[in-house]
Amino acid sequence: MIALACDQGGFELMGVVRAHLDSKNILYKDFGTFSPDSCHYPEIAVPAAKAIVSGECDKGIFICGTGIGMSIAANKVPGIRAALCTNEYMADMARAHNDANVLALGGRVLKSDCAIAIVDTFLKTAFSGQDRHIHRVGLLNAADRSNEE
Ligand code: RB5
Repeated sequence: MIALACDQGGFELMGVVRAHLDSKNILYKDFGTFSPDSCHYPEIAVPAAKAIVSGECDKGIFICGTGIGMSIAANKVPGIRAALCTNEYMADMARAHNDANVLALGGRVLKSDCAIAIVDTFLKTAFSGQDRHIHRVGLLNAADRSNEE
């Protein structure tokens, strides 16, 4: 289950992403926004991010105008590793090295075909499981835990 979150800046691209996921029978839970009207990206990103941490969703695709606001908001939630990607290489590395669980995209930055290629790479790429990357992701998780204390 993929958590989807966008603001007005990502609304149009999210429609393209949603249609692509539908075409591949990939299930998602849509946290909005549901209209092109102005809204506040943290109010949409945080509930969607919490659904990933709780296990209700496996990963997320979060889109705002640049992807910056959505990635910052998502990364405020302990357990989230959100990666703002502008090409397939970044999406590949975000999964293989960082075990990223949220892909952040810029709806006003990327062309649709490029965004879909990034989504496909993010969804198909597994974490490498290499010792050094397990250790580094563990350090990120430890930082989350220390911030909660
Ligand atoms: C909205 O205008 C814009 O600020 C938002 O979509 C995003 O780009 C923020 O980072």
